[in-house]
Amino acid sequence: MIRIYPSLMAADPLCLKNEIQLLAPHCAGFHLDVMDNHFVPNITWGADTVNAIARLGSPMWVHLMVEKPDEFYATLQLSDDSIVSFHIESKVDVFRLIKIIKEKKHKASIAISPKTPISRIIPFLHDIDQVVVMSVEPGFSGQSFLKASLDRISELVEHRKKTNTTFRIGIDGGIDAINIAVVVEKGVDDCAIGSGIFRNKDSIEALQKLQKLAGKDKFF
Ligand code: DX5
Ligand code: ZN
Repeated sequence: MIRIYPSLMAADPLCLKNEIQLLAPHCAGFHLDVMDNHFVPNITWGADTVNAIARLGSPMWVHLMVEKPDEFYATLQLSDDSIVSFHIESKVDVFRLIKIIKEKKHKASIAISPKTPISRIIPFLHDIDQVVVMSVEPGFSGQSFLKASLDRISELVEHRKKTNTTFRIGIDGGIDAINIAVVVEKGVDDCAIGSGIFRNKDSIEALQKLQKLAGKDKFF
């Protein structure tokens, strides 16, 4: 089952509620990028906004691009089964944060930036629900997909087969109508898509086109 999460960072900030209500019946949930202007050179939303968006009731995939994800996570109020991604490159005790996320009944997810070797996350793959292959440098939406991400997906698919683990593989950055079929074919389960949806006049139409290109029978 492939899941697409519109990435709200690329939406018009003045239309967030409207976009969420329009798209919610058509997608798995929403991808929410949190940036602190330290881990990445950009800033998005604080906890109040993230919690307000979560209260609208759609499933959330929160992507923490912050230096201290454990501290920020402690300020969030998310519903059960929300996905919480933190970066392997951030300053954190990885096993401890995975345990805290799971204790709160959320899904633990580790994001890995393009230049970080996949080997860095291998020790944690038995304990997490999702890996996020960053297919752009984290920080901005609207960048081009990095083709080297395809080999990184394959590496994870191979590892998952060999080790009989069950983590889902997420992709984040530069996914559009041109490459979605390829990444799904490679083995991606969850796609965060920003400008590929919100740069279009009709975001529902763009989402549905992407779903069709990925294989229309494969959706939730
Ligand atoms: C980048 C963010 C992405 C971004 C995706 O740091 O993590 O989620 O919003 O946007 P697009 O799909 O435009 O690359
Ligand atoms: Zn993201």
